[in-house]
Amino acid sequence: MCSDPNKVIDVTKAVQDVILRIYRWDSSGTWGEDGRLVDYKVPVPSGMTILDALIWIKANLDHTLSWRAACRMGVCGSCGMFIHGKPLLACQTQVLKLHADVIEIRPLPNYPIVKDLVTDQSRMIDAHTRIKPYIIRTGTPPEAVAGEFHQTEEELVRYLQFSYCLKCGLCMSACPTVASLQEFPGPQPLGQALRYVYDTRDEGFDERLKEIDNAFGIFRCHFAGACSEACPKGIDPAFAIQLLKKEIVKRAIMGCQAPESAGLMPVQQDNAVKAPNVPATPAFTVEQKK
Ligand code: SF4
Ligand code: FES
Repeated sequence: MCSDPNKVIDVTKAVQDVILRIYRWDSSGTWGEDGRLVDYKVPVPSGMTILDALIWIKANLDHTLSWRAACRMGVCGSCGMFIHGKPLLACQTQVLKLHADVIEIRPLPNYPIVKDLVTDQSRMIDAHTRIKPYIIRTGTPPEAVAGEFHQTEEELVRYLQFSYCLKCGLCMSACPTVASLQEFPGPQPLGQALRYVYDTRDEGFDERLKEIDNAFGIFRCHFAGACSEACPKGIDPAFAIQLLKKEIVKRAIMGCQAPESAGLMPVQQDNAVKAPNVPATPAFTVEQKK
């Protein structure tokens, strides 16, 4: 991030002053037990995002203000906050497009607050980890998984939309079941479970089922749809959850198995011709197990 924010945020071209009314809280008690809303007046040029405005406030008005951000371009998923009554990414939300003289910014609901606008997202990350968000091969001997898997374009398209998740957690903050049921995994982990269940390279449906389908699991989703409305990447986690419910019901009632998993390509193709000037692959940096 640029060390001098004034070099990238030119407020001399401001077209309007906007009050950002920001929630402040920290564990020292400076802002009281329940925290406090504090007003900051920001000169806003065209195109300034909420994240730009927060950077400007920190550089010019109050260096104690805290938030989380990294990429500034809607990729890392770390700048989620509750802006003007909605869960949004600060770096993707332009101040002037909110058409308000006063904009309230709070930390994302449904998460414990660490400080000011920074929330603790352990609940989502833990549930995401528990659904095993990686390809599991149960029927393939370990020494064979160094090869490539066959997958058609149609098989890729089936899960592609669900693979764009940023782990921003906006869907979790919008979900009424997450708000009322601590044990519910939430739309992000459940959406990612479908992403892997739909991947023909994966054979881990059974391993994931106990995390997904239990007394506090996927069938506690009542399809409010708020998660999909909040998602900045169009993942549509509410739809993913309904598709995953369908797969679970198919398996339980009709005895359907997951689609046949992808076979491995031969590690060395006989007819493969190496293009000239392609550098050799680097040597392994860890010892290979025999
Ligand atoms: S599903 Fe959408 S809203 Fe939820 S964490 Fe992924 S990108 Fe964010
Ligand atoms: S800073 Fe990375 S998504 Fe906003």
